[in-house]
Amino acid sequence: MNVTKQIFQPNPEFQKTARIKSMDEYYALCKKAEDNYEGFWGDYAKEKITWKKPFTNVLDESNAPFYSWFDGGTLNVSEQCIDRHLEDKKNKVAIIFEGDKGDNQMITYLQLHHNVNKFANLLKNKFGVKKGDRVVIYMPMIPEAAYAMLACARIGAIHSIVFGGFSAEALKDRIKDADAKVVITADGAYRKGKAYMLKPVVDEALKGDTPVEKVCVVQRNYEDVTWVAGRDYSYNEMIDNESSVCEAEEMDSEDPLFLLYTSGSTGSPKGVQHNTAGYILWAQMTMEWVFDVKDNDTFWCTADVGWITGHTYIVYGPLAMGATTLMFEGVPTYPDAGRCWKMVEKHKINQFYTAPTAIRVLHKMGENEPSKYDISSLKVLGTVGEPIDPPAWKWYYEEVGNSKCAIVDTYWQTETGGHIVSPLPGATPIKPACATFPLPGIIGEILDPETGIKVAKGESGYMCITKPWPSMIRAVWGDPERFKKSYFGDVKKDGKPVYFTGDGANYDEDGYITITGRTDDVINVSGHRMGTAEVEAALKKDPNVAEVAVCGRPHEIKGESIFAYVVLKNALDETRFEDDVAMVKELNNIIKKEIGNIALCDDIIFVPGLPKTRSGKIMRRLLRSIAKKEEITQDISTLEDPAVVKQIEAIVKG
Ligand code: PRX
Repeated sequence: MNVTKQIFQPNPEFQKTARIKSMDEYYALCKKAEDNYEGFWGDYAKEKITWKKPFTNVLDESNAPFYSWFDGGTLNVSEQCIDRHLEDKKNKVAIIFEGDKGDNQMITYLQLHHNVNKFANLLKNKFGVKKGDRVVIYMPMIPEAAYAMLACARIGAIHSIVFGGFSAEALKDRIKDADAKVVITADGAYRKGKAYMLKPVVDEALKGDTPVEKVCVVQRNYEDVTWVAGRDYSYNEMIDNESSVCEAEEMDSEDPLFLLYTSGSTGSPKGVQHNTAGYILWAQMTMEWVFDVKDNDTFWCTADVGWITGHTYIVYGPLAMGATTLMFEGVPTYPDAGRCWKMVEKHKINQFYTAPTAIRVLHKMGENEPSKYDISSLKVLGTVGEPIDPPAWKWYYEEVGNSKCAIVDTYWQTETGGHIVSPLPGATPIKPACATFPLPGIIGEILDPETGIKVAKGESGYMCITKPWPSMIRAVWGDPERFKKSYFGDVKKDGKPVYFTGDGANYDEDGYITITGRTDDVINVSGHRMGTAEVEAALKKDPNVAEVAVCGRPHEIKGESIFAYVVLKNALDETRFEDDVAMVKELNNIIKKEIGNIALCDDIIFVPGLPKTRSGKIMRRLLRSIAKKEEITQDISTLEDPAVVKQIEAIVKG
């Protein structure tokens, strides 16, 4: 069966109660937004947000591209996510926690309120955190990570979560860039049945000069850790002394809510800044529209809170809408490839949201596992982070979704805050591996990069958003020029710079959008963004390395893997294979130290030189083709040293 040609209609039973029930309703919402953009967003902002003070203006474009939404309004995100639900949902479970070993905690909205308020008081009273301060969170997937985020929001501190897989060096860089005075971490946690540690990484990161004054350590596995007197304090020992009443700070709509570092095509990772009102509005609305979560539903997003998906769809989105969200400490394949389906059965999960990499692994390791469990509670399946391939889609649709669940292929980015292009489960006829249409209110268009004109059906171009939207990135922390250059530098529509995602896309004959991947030097490994510049900078730290160029190469499970071409200062002795192996290990160790395991290179090859233009620019396109073992058809005669291409090809083909 050629699934790519098929169209799957929404499940009629599901449609009956869906929030958006048909394409007509979808088109009507899009039209409403087009006809009166500010009215559309203003109405939703009034309806969805519990304001402390109402806003006086919907959108201010006078300082483009530094847009401002809902000026004059004040609110607090922790109240939006917790307090306002206490009247009718205080005993509803807000967070279901499942530990690696299968242990569970059910945290009601009332308990969440207590825990977040206590944590907020602790941060204020014992750690001296004030409104506007930056707090770095380096945590495992335990409820305290969510409490920490919401506690920061409650007192107006700006959190910056660093994914637990990043190394001490990467953590230190982010701590310094954000100028954070407090780090919240854990001793460690559990993975695949064993304890692992985080605190030692923090200790390493804080060696030397850093702005950090205090470290708050949640004890999860109670393994031995070093305590630095006057700097490190145990959350577990202090939290019970704090009051469970903490007045929420009154925040302006445009006060920063959090920073999240992400990779770009050049330079060091950038601190993507999201602000209060616009972010929380869209987090909530997309939960309602795209996952169509109902009051008794249980929602599970398998991401880590260290990535934007975890921010928006484990914590902020589900809680803002008063849903029950599941947080999982472990990995999807432990103790076996049936773990996820076992959890779906156990917790009666209704919406399951994961990444194509995980789907491919679960498919490969446990093709028949879903049928061993009762997973009939599932209604909506989601995917995010990278293009999904049709075979993985088909298995997800048929075996996991029993051919009755919609698959929402949600396309978005750290910078967009929430989904931008996605099917609606009760409305959109879906096509495999296709993100379909922009959500209402998001003016997403595929533009010709040269002319800025929208491309025709059947054509491809750059995926852009041509009007500002509430949950868009507000700033690159500390670097306004980089913000403008990174997002508003490449594509102009009607002479005006528009937001460019960095992704290529095409419209099919029905106008459906398929995202084809990055057009820049960003590599997408297992749905995680890696900048080539970052990996290259790490490799260059090795004293033996003269030059290096890194690119992505298609990978069966990870989507893409990292492929590095390295020129050594002293060429290795060709007859001694062990030298190669030792050097590869040395270089990957450097990456592990500088960035973390997530950036390890699957391929490192040693080459005599790199293909460069006469002006010295490395021809990455060529290197990408060689890594894929594609035939080189382009003219290479203008290169500084055309012969090097053949040499590199010969080495890669081995
Ligand atoms: O290339 C796109 C890809 O992931 C990038 C964003 O990565 P990040 O900021 O880490 O956020 C990931 C989670 C939202 C995009 O520029 N991407 C994301 N979703 C999809 C996707 N590619 C294809 N299809 C998707 N559904």
